[in-house]
Amino acid sequence: RSYEYIEVSEPRPGVGQITLNRPKALNALCTPLITELNTALHTFQTTPTIAAIILTGSARAFAAGADIKEMAPLSFSTAYTTAFIESWSDLTTSLKKPLIAAVSGHALGGGCELALMADILYCTATANFGQPEIKLGTVPGAGGSQRLTRAVGKSRAMELILTGKSFSGVEAERWGVAARVFDSHEALMEGALQTAETIAGYSRVAVQAAKEVVNKSQDLGLRDGVEYERRVFHALFGSQDQKIGMRAFAEKKKAEWSHE
Ligand code: HXC
Repeated sequence: RSYEYIEVSEPRPGVGQITLNRPKALNALCTPLITELNTALHTFQTTPTIAAIILTGSARAFAAGADIKEMAPLSFSTAYTTAFIESWSDLTTSLKKPLIAAVSGHALGGGCELALMADILYCTATANFGQPEIKLGTVPGAGGSQRLTRAVGKSRAMELILTGKSFSGVEAERWGVAARVFDSHEALMEGALQTAETIAGYSRVAVQAAKEVVNKSQDLGLRDGVEYERRVFHALFGSQDQKIGMRAFAEKKKAEWSHE
């Protein structure tokens, strides 16, 4: 399958990669690009051999935001009745496999929000994150006010969103937005590939459950979240891979997962 605004590859066994590829507009996220991204993610989700997914852009830009030229003439009624931007949520709700965002260069507005939707965010030191919507007379529209605030706390999120000032990859890592920061785009991609390969080496059942329980922490209170986790933990005693994993430990062998 060929795409216009993205590239899709399988760089390592079990690893799917989506590279945003609209260089003329610094990967601005026009609606057709988001449609292609959703299609590619859905394809990886339903491809049994793929176990972890990397989403990246170019060395210059992860994505410079939603497409300002597309949004400029939009009316309230059109945005409202077509549920403009709502399809972006598909990225997080229907994807069960882990998604790693590897961010170099600009990750602004919707680009920053897209990166924040990933399960793990890696970036370069010079990555340029921000929510500059205030400068355009609007506010973040793809979860930035919610996910950035959970990541960095209210005061810092308010400062970033009310001033539109950007922050670097070094700051992103220091504030916990990014899990790791790298010196170059090449080092970033190698780091993302290694993490994806590590994840792809585990039981698919356990990996999906691990992502599910961590995500619950974002929606549930502590008591309900811990109870939810325990239910899933109990459920995994019904998997073959729990037996395989614990038996392999006792026998000092490498686990050969059945993914069942
Ligand atoms: C449409 C964009 C774009 C965008 C860049 N381009 N960002 N087109 N939408 N978000 C286009 C430019 O118009 C230009 O096209 C080309 O990409 C190269 O950009 P330059 O500005 O010439 O590059 P540079 O001088 O290096 O500056 C890079 C930049 C700047 C700092 C990233 O492009 C910029 O400020 N972009 C807008 C960032 C932004 O405000 N993002 C938030 C959008 S609002 P031409 O044709 O002139 O060569 C948003 C709302 C989200 O995301 C809410 C819901 C999702």
